[in-house]
Amino acid sequence: MKYSCIRISICTAVCLILLWSCSRESPPPVHGVLAEHGMVSSAHPLASKVGVDILKKGGNAFDAAIAVQFALAVVYPNAGNIGGGGFLVYRKADGHTGSLDFREKAPMAAHRDMYLDQDGEFISDLSTKGHLAAGVPGSVDGMFQIHEKLATLPMKELLEPAIQLALNGVVLTEQEASGLNYHKQAFIEANNHTPYLVRDKEWSGGDTIFYAQLAETLIRIRDQGRDGFYSGLTAQLIVEEMQKGNGIISLEDLAEYRAVWRQPVKGSYKSFNIIGMGPPSSGGVALLQLLKGLEPYDIRQWGFNSARTVHIMTELERRVYADRAAYLGDPDFFKVPVEELISSDYLSGRFADIDLSTSTPSQAIESNLLGLVESPETTHFSIVDIEGNAAAITTTLNGSYGCKVVVDGAGFLLNNEMDDFSAKPGVPNMFGLVGGEANAILPEKRMLSSMTPTIVERGDSLYMVVGTPGGSTIITSVFQTILNVIEHEMTMQEAVNARKFHHQWLPDQISYEPEALDSITISTLREMGHHLVTRQSIGRMDAVLVLENGWLEGAADHTRGDNTAIGY
Ligand code: DON
Repeated sequence: MKYSCIRISICTAVCLILLWSCSRESPPPVHGVLAEHGMVSSAHPLASKVGVDILKKGGNAFDAAIAVQFALAVVYPNAGNIGGGGFLVYRKADGHTGSLDFREKAPMAAHRDMYLDQDGEFISDLSTKGHLAAGVPGSVDGMFQIHEKLATLPMKELLEPAIQLALNGVVLTEQEASGLNYHKQAFIEANNHTPYLVRDKEWSGGDTIFYAQLAETLIRIRDQGRDGFYSGLTAQLIVEEMQKGNGIISLEDLAEYRAVWRQPVKGSYKSFNIIGMGPPSSGGVALLQLLKGLEPYDIRQWGFNSARTVHIMTELERRVYADRAAYLGDPDFFKVPVEELISSDYLSGRFADIDLSTSTPSQAIESNLLGLVESPETTHFSIVDIEGNAAAITTTLNGSYGCKVVVDGAGFLLNNEMDDFSAKPGVPNMFGLVGGEANAILPEKRMLSSMTPTIVERGDSLYMVVGTPGGSTIITSVFQTILNVIEHEMTMQEAVNARKFHHQWLPDQISYEPEALDSITISTLREMGHHLVTRQSIGRMDAVLVLENGWLEGAADHTRGDNTAIGY
């Protein structure tokens, strides 16, 4: 009796300890939205709903993408746009892949030194605020090109939800209201009319904002097609707006703008195929360089955000961003050596001097290894449809609300994408990025981007659709999110939520979100010679993962934004 009592209590204690340690070591996985047929993950719940409604009525992923792009221009004016540009990377259900560049262009009257003063010094305000900061918008032509090649429903049906949202008004979230209040003075300074984004009283979450002029512009696009934006009244209103503030976009710039279908850049990471955006985005090339460079290292064993893992990723990043500064630009103006940059031969040499025990100062990194002679608030959405077609679009005005100019009479914001050019060699832009000849300003050239809309295949099948805003941190956020799933066995939602870090060669520092690194990791990295600084928010991903049973996991970053995934 006595012994059996002791045995029972020992058993109970063992069970309790086991239960306790299990619950400590493996918290239940956090899944995103699970659905069988289709998924839209975007920066705004209303835009995701627009997209999923299109899927439910039989539209494909590309129909939904067009409808979401126009809806975001209404419900998410910080980055959603018709006055900006972006990139599509797609994979059709039959495995065919492609990409569309609807990036803005420098106006014809742009010139290399347009943001320099008489002494040759960079005037940063000129490329970020007001009319002169705007590139020729590409989004509307982009949507018409996607429609012509890939969509199935009439364009009118895809524009209608955005028109209705603009006419009926949109209820602001807390985050949107505080964004508008924060930028109020900038809106007043950039416009010589009072845009509808400004009112005497502060905005609050729950207020409704109406977009009457934007609705009229969208109706013109619905009724006249691309001419409803690039010629006629809208074009005239853009040019009149330019004349009010030293802007240089002309009627000819608008009439001539065309989005361009380009080959995506492709490579592999272990057994996964990566389909990324090529130049004029640096995203695809840089992501492939990073993934290839990481392949020999067992970060799964080293652990998520351990000092060794962060160190190797950082050392790769500083070299890849040095390459970005030297070689990446608009391929129509500068010969970008894409194949060479992602080749195993080049990369094994490029990464050969990485020391696993100590950091390499960024000044010691050569930035033109190939020896080329110098010459002449973004948002992402991911969509998968019932057939398995996939669309990854990252689109932007650049800064939050772009250059803050609202085209009077047409009701939409213009971008400040010109700041993505290298206005002066070696002088950092608003994301701290430097560049040279490859990304110098020339008339009609596209400015270099970091946007990284990406599709990952496992074997021959669609696996992941992913992307994010974040300027220079876009590439490293996509890098980490893919690794979080593939190496650290996170769900898509956990990978999106996971706190992130970033290095971009210059400045020579690892920026990290509080909670991304623990105190032991931080001190180990400091001992290895790294400089570390905290940063509030890195990445705001929208992703879709195809699960083993064929269901979809939609993961939207509702920890850093109002992002929402909706499936059916
Ligand atoms: O194209 C680029 O790389 C930048 N214009 C993206 C800007 C961005 O992500 C801003 N959002 N946080």
